Amino acid sequence: MVIKNVSLDIVCGITSKIPDTGRPEVAFAGKSNVGKSSLINGLMNRKALARTSAQPGKTQTINFYNINEAMYLVDLPGYGYARVSAAEKEKWGKMIEAYLHNSKELRAVFLLVDIRHKPSANDKQMYDWICHNGYEPVIIATKLDKLKRSQVAKSLKEIRIGLGLSKEGKILPFSAETKQGRDEIWALIDELTGL
Ligand code: GTP
Ligand code: MG
Repeated sequence: MVIKNVSLDIVCGITSKIPDTGRPEVAFAGKSNVGKSSLINGLMNRKALARTSAQPGKTQTINFYNINEAMYLVDLPGYGYARVSAAEKEKWGKMIEAYLHNSKELRAVFLLVDIRHKPSANDKQMYDWICHNGYEPVIIATKLDKLKRSQVAKSLKEIRIGLGLSKEGKILPFSAETKQGRDEIWALIDELTGL
């Protein structure tokens, strides 16, 4: 995808109805602070259109980024953020659930995990939940720049085993610092959305 114009079109809060955008959507899920918003900025060639933070829990709404008036990249709130009340967590969970369940145009769900860590129980739960909704999650292993090159293959294998990925299941490493992996992710999005 050649980026011509991007904009934050729709912000969907706890009380909002899931919008019917009429254009293909791909969504990015993953635990808080894993790098969802940073990846979306990287894909859009923008430094800070999607707000990022070193503090987990930055994105608290479902944000729809319009790409070239052709499709949407959808930034989901992160899970597993300890400093949020159980009630709040439940609300966010319900919101993500409602989106996965009700979006008419969702073509693919990307699940982000930190390349340095084994997937958590929450990651596994999210993976299973995405599958349960009829999507084959594409895994993105984030923060590639933080790992020694010699460790990459081993980490990817551990993530694959931890999530119980099938042989065909895709896992793509990415760094928001170096943009390594960006072209591969766009190639896949283009393929999945038919654009
Ligand atoms: P929530 O909105 O809280 O769910 O987090 P998020 O998943 O959107 O994470 P965000 O993109 O805000 O990134 C969290 C922190 O990780 C920020 O300080 C980013 O700068 C940093 N970060 C994200 N991706 C990378 C990466 O590829 N490499 C490095 N070194 N840091 C990254
Ligand atoms: Mg975010």
